[in-house]
Amino acid sequence: MKTIALVALSLIIGTVLAISPVWSQDEMTVVDNTDFPNAQRPPSVFVHDRHNENAGIDDCAVCHHVYDEGQLLEDESSEDQRCVDCHYLERMGDQPGLMEAFHANCKGCHEQEGNGPILCGECHVR
Ligand code: HEC
Ligand code: HEC
Ligand code: HEC
Ligand code: HEC
Repeated sequence: MKTIALVALSLIIGTVLAISPVWSQDEMTVVDNTDFPNAQRPPSVFVHDRHNENAGIDDCAVCHHVYDEGQLLEDESSEDQRCVDCHYLERMGDQPGLMEAFHANCKGCHEQEGNGPILCGECHVR
């Protein structure tokens, strides 16, 4: 009887954990750095949803932007694409290379807002 109760209990707990969003999705906690051959730093801390909530960013296109011939398109966003899909390792014309794209986007806003980390080790946490 006891074993059956235990099995039932663990099934219930397992189900709750599996459907609870906190546990079922592997939420992004760092920016993937595997596109950089021989990355020199640990990947940058970035808890996507929590970050954007705390920073009060509602518009996805602040980071996931779309340009048409140099013009930023309002009301369009590119969250279905990765930064590396457009930003190659090397800069291409006005399109910054991958590392520059991240640093300008992330650090650029932190500097502008006077809020958020700007030191290497605050993002690339060992
Ligand atoms: C606001 C956060 C932030 C800060 C501050 C920052 N970086 Fe980064 N950096 C990133 C992100 C995001 C990437 C993209 C890949 C990743 O997650 O590491 C990146 C990529 C890199 C890369 C290319 C990938 C690699 O590991 O070889 C290097 C090198 C790098 N950063 C060095 C630095 C140095 C040096 C500093 C300080 C002068 C610095 N970063 C400050 C966020 C940051
Ligand atoms: C502060 C910058 C920023 C904002 C704002 C932002 N994102 Fe992202 N998002 C990122 C970065 C960086 C990545 C990783 C991209 C990469 O690896 O190339 C990412 C990845 C994603 C991914 C793919 C990875 C995953 O978690 O499944 C989705 C989907 C996504 N974002 C959706 C959104 C949506 C929807 C919004 C608006 C509600 C949004 N993002 C706002 C920076 C941002
Ligand atoms: C669909 C293609 C595309 C995607 C995806 C994309 N970008 Fe861009 N990005 C561009 C183009 C094109 C430009 C050049 C704009 C110009 O001509 O000035 C640019 C410019 C930039 C710039 C410099 C100008 C500015 O707006 O600040 C930064 C920084 C940047 N991108 C960061 C990112 C980051 C970070 C990501 C991923 C979260 C990303 N981009 C995803 C196409 C893209
Ligand atoms: C449009 C502005 C903006 C952009 C773009 C932005 N940030 Fe931030 N970030 C902030 C603000 C504002 C805070 C401080 C929020 C707070 O007070 O908690 C912050 C805080 C942080 C923190 C410390 C708090 C935490 O969430 O762990 C990290 C790490 C961070 N940002 C990394 C990044 C990275 C990596 C990127 C680029 C992929 C990025 N940020 C892009 C505005 C921005």
